[in-house]
Amino acid sequence: MFDTEEFISESIESLKSTIDDIAIIACSGGVDSTVAAVIASQAVGDLLHCVYVDTGFMRKDETEQIEALLEEQGINLVTVKAADRYFEALKGVTEPEQKRKVIGELFIRIFEDEQKKCGAKYLVQGTIAPDWIESGGGVRDTIKSHHNVGGLPEDMTLTVVEPLRDLYKDEVRELARHLDINVAERQPFPGPGLAVRTLGELTPERVAVVREACAIVEEEFEAAAERGEMEIPWQYFAALLPVRSVGVHGDVRAYGETIVVRAVQSIDGMSARYSEIPHSILQKISTRITNTVKGAVNRVVYDITHKPPGTIEWE
Ligand code: XMP
Repeated sequence: MFDTEEFISESIESLKSTIDDIAIIACSGGVDSTVAAVIASQAVGDLLHCVYVDTGFMRKDETEQIEALLEEQGINLVTVKAADRYFEALKGVTEPEQKRKVIGELFIRIFEDEQKKCGAKYLVQGTIAPDWIESGGGVRDTIKSHHNVGGLPEDMTLTVVEPLRDLYKDEVRELARHLDINVAERQPFPGPGLAVRTLGELTPERVAVVREACAIVEEEFEAAAERGEMEIPWQYFAALLPVRSVGVHGDVRAYGETIVVRAVQSIDGMSARYSEIPHSILQKISTRITNTVKGAVNRVVYDITHKPPGTIEWE
């Protein structure tokens, strides 16, 4: 049995004796980095500088929620509003791997700047056991270059501290519940965020469409699950396709893009089966999306592809 209380008190003792100068952590709002930040902050207080980068690709209200959560935990938080820099760097970039590369590199540059500003000597990371067990050429790395806040520069002369290194996801979730961090039950969300759900060119307008559509999918699925009409899938979201089709709005011809709704069952994301969703729920989602982002989208489709051959995300 994993003893959360014992783990936390031992980690705090160990972090106190290791970190004797400024430390920095990048927090994405995901469960691993948040738990690591909370424990490290309990150990060393304001010696820990927690950097949250708002890339402009976060879900609806997510930045505010993450800021509130970290501040509630008494964490010394630095938010970097970087949406303009991301959109600028990504102008004209449509190829998925290139997008991920640009996003990853800009993240590193922003983080390096913050490290220089605060003069950190230590880098705290929320690495967990599967992260380092799988690294070293897992298949998944060759399919898509995954971006995580862990993908930091190798030449940084920082001492890396990884308090969660020996834990598995379910143990980190237990810690999150114990620490009253309400990210514990949230579905997985990719490091590059809504950028990989906005196929084609990334503009603030197109990302805003995906943000609304994802929020509608989340709300409708969660409400339907609450009513007992379906099981909540392992992951569920919307992506915007740069495919335009003809439609009608009132009596007027429309020529809008396409939203695809994706929902899957999976254990670990390595393989997945598409979820069978009642048509009435899909229909409600379709109507809400086309009413909310009128003009931009006039067609909603549901993805019935397993992984393999598809991946979970569309990019
Ligand atoms: P794919 O699309 O490869 O995704 O089937 C498998 C799982 O990983 C998530 N995903 C990511 N997670 N950084 C992450 O931390 C990433 O760059 C990334 N890309 C995809 C995806 O949402 C799914 O849960």
